[in-house]
Amino acid sequence: MNSGALDVIEFLLTAEIYSENRDLDENDLPPKIRQVFWHDGTIERPLRTSVETAREATGLDQPWEAVSELMFTERDTFSGSIELTQRDMAEEWFAERDDGRIAENPTLAHALSGYDGVDVDYEAVREANRPVQSDRAWIDSLLEEHFDEEDEDEDGESMLDLVDIHAPEEVELTLDDLVLTEDQEAEIHKIVKAIEHREYLANIGLREIGKLLFVGPPGTGKTSTARALGYDLDLPFVEVKLSMITSQYLGETAKNVEKVFEVAKRLSPCILFMDEFDFVAKTRRSDEHAAIKRAVNTLLKSIDNISLIQDDVLLIGATNHPDQLDAAAWRRFDEILNFPKPDEQMRSDILRVITRRMRISDFDPDELATKTEGLTGSDLRLVLREAVLEALTENRTELRQEDLIHAIQDFEERDNLKDLDMIDGDHDALVAGGDISGHSHDH
Ligand SMILES: Nc1ncnc2c1ncn2[C@@H]1O[C@H](COP(=O)(O)OP(=O)(O)OP(=O)(O)O)[C@@H](O)[C@H]1O
Ligand SMILES: [Mg+2]
Repeated sequence: MNSGALDVIEFLLTAEIYSENRDLDENDLPPKIRQVFWHDGTIERPLRTSVETAREATGLDQPWEAVSELMFTERDTFSGSIELTQRDMAEEWFAERDDGRIAENPTLAHALSGYDGVDVDYEAVREANRPVQSDRAWIDSLLEEHFDEEDEDEDGESMLDLVDIHAPEEVELTLDDLVLTEDQEAEIHKIVKAIEHREYLANIGLREIGKLLFVGPPGTGKTSTARALGYDLDLPFVEVKLSMITSQYLGETAKNVEKVFEVAKRLSPCILFMDEFDFVAKTRRSDEHAAIKRAVNTLLKSIDNISLIQDDVLLIGATNHPDQLDAAAWRRFDEILNFPKPDEQMRSDILRVITRRMRISDFDPDELATKTEGLTGSDLRLVLREAVLEALTENRTELRQEDLIHAIQDFEERDNLKDLDMIDGDHDALVAGGDISGHSHDH
């Protein structure tokens, strides 16, 4: 039996069992199945199964054809619906052929655990299923419900333009892909525990917790770590660049700040990530517009008024310029997390992690680490990309250690270029044929 039929029967069974059993809730549906049933922030019973929804949930072009020969399926060509005619027959058929799906589908685990050979623990299966907050479809349907036309201002700017929202399922890097210092790991562990035990913390009156500031030079993993945390904790990730809030196109700045916090509270539990936090400091000090000052004060007040314990919002700020933050800003974060440039050991580990899926002959990350003093994780990624592209010009998909060494040299030369003064300089590098680019041009 092909797995297409199993896909479709799983879909039909799940929908039917879920529709009938009101003890089950959204978290009992596997993400790929429930994604097709969201509407205005809820999933309404009964779940109607059709060729269309089956196609979306299974990814099969012709879901009906995959099951049309089975005795217990039926299609209504007029309405496009597909259904099971004999549920018990379908259950038996599925339980007999199950290849591990029941162990990943809480609804089926709940209904089919009595069948021969089906050995699953419903509670455990439900625990392992990703919760609704991790679904893009859930976030979208919630946003649809909360932000209608009224939320657009005169210029047609919606508050959603201020923020970038990522569903956990969309995060590309997980904590496993990041090389962290011991301090960073300990801090992250602490926050994960605090989130798990929110209720306890609220009960003992400890509310001033859950505001982190990530501090470090560009490319050291601040954004990636915050996102990875969202993935690990299954929390939507609301990202806002503070400079965006005062964009000239976006009407009243103070109001925009309030809107961002409103979005976060509506999406909670979630992570609110505020990048470029030093922006706050800059504007407080200078004689900027009164409107911007007001905005910054609103921002600080909003930060005071949001809490992990009460609102289920984990606030993470990030900055490249901690020296520019004043006491008023520092005071609002209960944990400061340092993101230093990686040392030799970390560079070696980062190289190992980012090359996981590549083939490299004579690969020696330790050697490369000694040659990359001062480079960040993001620099190392660039180096690697360069090496891959170079090798491709020779039609090679397997790298060699020399390719990487070469790419490091190139990278350093490029880095030098960045520091040249392009107008006054009479450096060789500014003249075509100079040895930096390595290419010469005829004029
Ligand atoms: N410690 C690390 N381990 C693995 N990868 C890393 C590490 N640090 C950085 N990277 C990689 O470098 C890239 C850039 O990192 P990221 O955007 O998180 O840096 P950042 O600190 O937010 O920089 P910026 O201050 O410019 O916003 C990412 O693709 C990330 O995977
Ligand atoms: Mg960043």
